[in-house]
Amino acid sequence: MDNPSNEQPKLDVLILAAGLGTRMRSNLAKVLHRLDGRPLINHVCRTAQALAPGKIYIVIGHQGEDVKAAVLEELDERQSEFVWQKEQLGTGHAVNAASHFLENEDSTLLVLSGDVPMIRAETLAALVQQHRTHRGKGAACTILSVKLEDPTGYGRIIRDEAGLFDRIVEQKDASDEEKLTKEINSGIYCFDTRKLFSALSRVKNNNAQNEYYLTDVPSLLRHEGETIAIYHHNDSHEIEGINNRVQLAEMERTMRYRVIKKMMVDYGVTFIDPKNTYISEQASIGRDTVIYPNVSIEGESEIGDGCTIRAGTRITNSKIGHSVEILDNCVITDSEVSNQCTIGPFAHLRGKAKMEEKSKVGNFVELKKTILGRGSKANHLAYLGDATIGEKTNIGAGTITCNYDGVNKNPTIIGNNVKISSNTMLVAPIKIGDGAVTGAGAVVINDVPPDTLVVGVPAKIKKNLNAADAEKTESEKPEIQTNGRLS
Ligand code: UD1
Ligand code: MG
Repeated sequence: MDNPSNEQPKLDVLILAAGLGTRMRSNLAKVLHRLDGRPLINHVCRTAQALAPGKIYIVIGHQGEDVKAAVLEELDERQSEFVWQKEQLGTGHAVNAASHFLENEDSTLLVLSGDVPMIRAETLAALVQQHRTHRGKGAACTILSVKLEDPTGYGRIIRDEAGLFDRIVEQKDASDEEKLTKEINSGIYCFDTRKLFSALSRVKNNNAQNEYYLTDVPSLLRHEGETIAIYHHNDSHEIEGINNRVQLAEMERTMRYRVIKKMMVDYGVTFIDPKNTYISEQASIGRDTVIYPNVSIEGESEIGDGCTIRAGTRITNSKIGHSVEILDNCVITDSEVSNQCTIGPFAHLRGKAKMEEKSKVGNFVELKKTILGRGSKANHLAYLGDATIGEKTNIGAGTITCNYDGVNKNPTIIGNNVKISSNTMLVAPIKIGDGAVTGAGAVVINDVPPDTLVVGVPAKIKKNLNAADAEKTESEKPEIQTNGRLS
């Protein structure tokens, strides 16, 4: 993509994010509502950053500290400048809050709305380009417009007889005739920065909402003989604003479907029921993986090739290898699963759990911050927390790592080829050696040496399994019958 900031004058971005968003009927500032799991404002910031501008100014006010924290998850502090708008008196008033930073700048200012999250960087780059080259010398202001079948709620672009820009009229101020206009103001504009601030000082609030409208600036400039351009865009989804929860839900659906379609077409993923599957834009899924209905794959999750993910499973910020089978209703967060593992149904992996190759976690098993070694199994009803489990070990039904003593979380270390029998309680901190066995119902409070059987409550050593093997070879040698077959 062209980098418009490399051209003259420099490009800055200003994002409006101070409003409450009354129509959301929420205690949360509108720009903090989430789309694809991320606050609306973060989508806009990421797109702005892709243009590599000089500075990104963010006008904050309502729940400003929270908005600032969200923005700083996305933007570098050195690149961002927060501008406080203490009272929210309209979009013009909001931009004017940045006047002391910007009024004397020879720059192009791209104004974005924190509640228009799907705009693409390519579209913005084309807008900036047209703004700078309009009729050879550039425009004072370029407005991004789009035609909508249902323009309700948006400011309408009113053109004169020659088809040129005349003014923007807000829904609440529009006459019945003006309301029929389908071309709307996206709330995204490019300005010559000096001209913008000089006009802003003259904006009045004599309108239906008694607000200082940014939308009055283009017509003020036009009356002063400045050139106002319109950049008309065809993809209406991109410029949709979020003003209420219906629009938020519709945008979520549009975005989900866009992601899923891309995964089917470009990556060869099968979705049994695409309309009822939720995949984050940040996730990746490999070829020939099959996703059943009601699966959610959230955040920066990575799923490998040839996996099967059955209905009702949620995977968040996790990495799943190739040929993994995840049965119904599992929850996997912040965890890693290697190739050819099997999980579920009803399993829970969280807190950096890690399953190594060909391991298996079954019905009603929870793994928290636990490594399950290669080929090991925990098939039924177990809690394994803060544990490191070796290879080819079997964890019986009902096993619990008693990791919490009321103050600290303590570790459990289990070796290779261990057999933990049903209903064993492993009271951590504790170590179970390679080849050890616990009896059913054992409450193990001391470390168990390798190849040792412990039983009882509290568990005591019953025998050394190596010695038992030795005895076996002596006393239980199979007899050779006269017909030469084993008895
Ligand atoms: C605005 C435009 C409208 C356009 C629409 C596109 C105005 C007057 N109207 O209307 O023409 O069609 O966007 O989505 O600009 N904000 C502040 N401080 C304020 C008021 C608003 O920072 O005092 C911020 C809001 O947080 C929001 C953005 O500005 O992110 C837009 O405000 P909003 O109230 O949603 O304006 P719209 O009614 O959607
Ligand atoms: Mg809006």
